[in-house]
Amino acid sequence: MSIFPTRGNGSSLDHAKVTVPELMQRKTLAAGSPNKKITCLTAYDYPTGRLVDEAGVDVVLVGDSLGMVMLGYENTLPVTVEEMLHHTRAVRRGVKRAFLIADMPYASYHVSGKETVRNAARFVKAGAEAVKIEGGEKRAALVERLVDAEIPVVGHIGLTPQSLLAMGGYKVQGKSLKDVEQLMHDALALERCGACCVVLEGIPREVAALITHEIEIPTIGIGAGPDCDGQVLVFHDLLGLTFGPPAKFVRRYADLGTVITSAVQNFKDDVKSGGYPSDAESYHLPKDTLVTLQAIAERKRAMTV
Ligand code: KIV
Repeated sequence: MSIFPTRGNGSSLDHAKVTVPELMQRKTLAAGSPNKKITCLTAYDYPTGRLVDEAGVDVVLVGDSLGMVMLGYENTLPVTVEEMLHHTRAVRRGVKRAFLIADMPYASYHVSGKETVRNAARFVKAGAEAVKIEGGEKRAALVERLVDAEIPVVGHIGLTPQSLLAMGGYKVQGKSLKDVEQLMHDALALERCGACCVVLEGIPREVAALITHEIEIPTIGIGAGPDCDGQVLVFHDLLGLTFGPPAKFVRRYADLGTVITSAVQNFKDDVKSGGYPSDAESYHLPKDTLVTLQAIAERKRAMTV
């Protein structure tokens, strides 16, 4: 068995499998050339993982946002390890080139270091190439433990949705000088403890730019302005498949919700009007069987008259 990772079609770096070292290199590349910025989207199942991967996105995140956009929970807090693993395995089957990150859900890394490593290892066995945990300085020891167990870690600071109760709602973070200072400590602590990159969510553009400049690992922003080393969006937000009004930073590249509703209504109308399925959309008997069947039916009819 070769110990070298599969490198797509091997013809250029753009087609190579994205790995931790390659991702970390993109820090310097992104600084000088915007076309080297890291692109990241969430995916939650085989078709979305495959579509995102084949479109050439660098990083696929099985986000715990799946609790809201796929499972209909009000927030991410109810999401379980089993649910995340189920979706991670499905995405894994669709993703070949992109780097695959799985979110550790709320309470899966909050109890003890031992339990955190055990849970994170389950994600690696399910096909994740890194796990993402929310929190900065206060997660430093955990990050070290995971890295020690050969599990790459992605940090996530700023507006951390699993802190919903403590934050009292989804609010932009890092607006006061004290908060900016804490965010900087958080980012530096994650870097020091071996995180391979860090998601910056819901913070002022200026703060994200400062952090991106100060740390040596790549930053991936969501609602953090354009100066990060990469950008991530939730798949369903990008495609107009969510129900509420989108957040300020969401750019909708398609309105698939409307497309789907219209297709479903057309199906319903066609069935009710008899327009679906048509004869061409039906299977048919072979000619000789049909002739025999018709003859039998004719004989039966004649006998009953
Ligand atoms: O769960 C998720 O989708 C995320 C992204 C918003 C970064 O954590």
